[in-house]
Order: sequence, then C-alpha cells, then structure tokens
Amino acid sequence: MGKDVIIACDFDSAEKTFAFLDKFTGKKPFVKIGMELYYAEGPSIVREIKKRGHKIFLDLKLHDIPNTVKKSMAVLSRLDVDMTNLHAAGTKRMMEAAIEGLTRPDGTRPMLIAVTQLTSTDQESMENDLLIHEPIDKVVMHYAHNAMEAGLDGVVCSPLEAGKVHDTCGKSFVTVTPGVRFADGDIGDQKRVMTPAEAKKIGSDYIVVGRPITAAADPVAAYERCVAEFVD
Ligand code: C5P
Repeated sequence: MGKDVIIACDFDSAEKTFAFLDKFTGKKPFVKIGMELYYAEGPSIVREIKKRGHKIFLDLKLHDIPNTVKKSMAVLSRLDVDMTNLHAAGTKRMMEAAIEGLTRPDGTRPMLIAVTQLTSTDQESMENDLLIHEPIDKVVMHYAHNAMEAGLDGVVCSPLEAGKVHDTCGKSFVTVTPGVRFADGDIGDQKRVMTPAEAKKIGSDYIVVGRPITAAADPVAAYERCVAEFVD
C-alpha cells in the first residue's frame, strides 16, 4: 500500500467536477467522491470518473442495520471503487456484514475504512448528546480497534491521531487523514490542521485534501506541492 494524496472533489455537479479534473492533463489523481457529489449525480459520476482512469474513495459513511449495510456494500462493490467507508458506531457486527457485502465472488474487495468519531464531535457534544463519558481519544482508539477486529483496513482520523492509531492497531492498519493545510495557507473551517510534510512524518498513509487544491489559483501546482511534501 503506497502513500497517496486524495483530492476531495466536493462539487455539486458533474460539470464542475470535470472542469476541475480536465486541468490535470496526463495525471490521474486519486479522488474522493463524497455525499454532495454522489447525491447530486448518482452512481454514473463514479463510473465516469473511473472510466477516466482515476482511483476513487467513495465517502458515503454508511450506518444502518447490518443486513442493509451488507446489501448496500454489495451494490457499491460493483461500482469498482478503490476505497469506501462506514461509521464504526454501527457496531462490529455491522462492520463484519459490510465486509461480507463488499467482497466480490472472486474474493477481491475495495478497501474499507471506518469513521471513528467525526472530527466535528468534541468531548462536550459526545457527553451531552451521545451520553458517552469516556475521554474522546479513548473512544476513537476503541472504535479503531473494533474496526480492526471486524477485518477493516483502517480508519479516517485526524492527522494528530494517526500515530496513536498505528500504535494501537499496528503499522499496516491504514490511516486516512483530512484536515491538511499548507504552512502558508488558509485553514478555513478546519480546526486542528497539519501540513502534508507533517502528516507524512506522523505516519498518515493517505491525506485527503480539498480546498487547498480545489480552490487554489493553480490546482495542479497545489496538488503537485502536496505530492512533493507527502509522497516523494
Ligand atoms: O477542503 P478540505 O481540505 O477541508 O476538505 C476535507 C475533506 O475531508 C472534506 O471532503 C471533508 O468532508 C472531509 N472530512 C473532514 N474531516 C473528517 C472527515 C472527512 O474534513 N473528519
């Protein structure tokens, strides 16, 4: 498994997405399709981007009863994405069902990673809204461990948690980390950020980068800067 930069294509139409991807002549970055684009365009956007030769992380964060997740994962598996995800809060049984659904008749499957606690959830909202009273980093590591026991490949986490996830779940358990910003860039609404170079140092396997690339004056140069800092 190689380190890579995944571009978050947070656009609301296929037209805007392709206008963006067309700038990358000759290059095929790994892209993330999230809820906004998927709900706007449906599965055809996945097929079209795949046909152009990109690897795809389909970020739909499934969370439902095990049977529903299993059947939905079987459908997503046929879209031939490279990586997809779910909420670890759905329990180990739900995650095991997801793996079953995702696994194709020939035994292959996309990588499956878990969201532990969203980075928008803090200790206070976890205690007050979810009635979870353990320290948040303990909860994150427990959910990561559950995901590993269920057979998942890794977790989405803050780059600040990536090192601890590897200590808890092993070096080969993949960490996919958003919240990446250039040292001289705008942090926007992200609170705890890291540069691509710092994310590399701390052991992230994949960084997910949205606005620092999509909103850059020169997106291709911004992508190349991420690759140079994180991968090379
Ligand atoms: O534009 P920006 O680089 O902040 O985009 C980060 C991407 O990662 C967005 O698609 C966002 O939804 C996603 N993400 C995140 N924090 C998480 C999980 C996903 O920022 N905890």
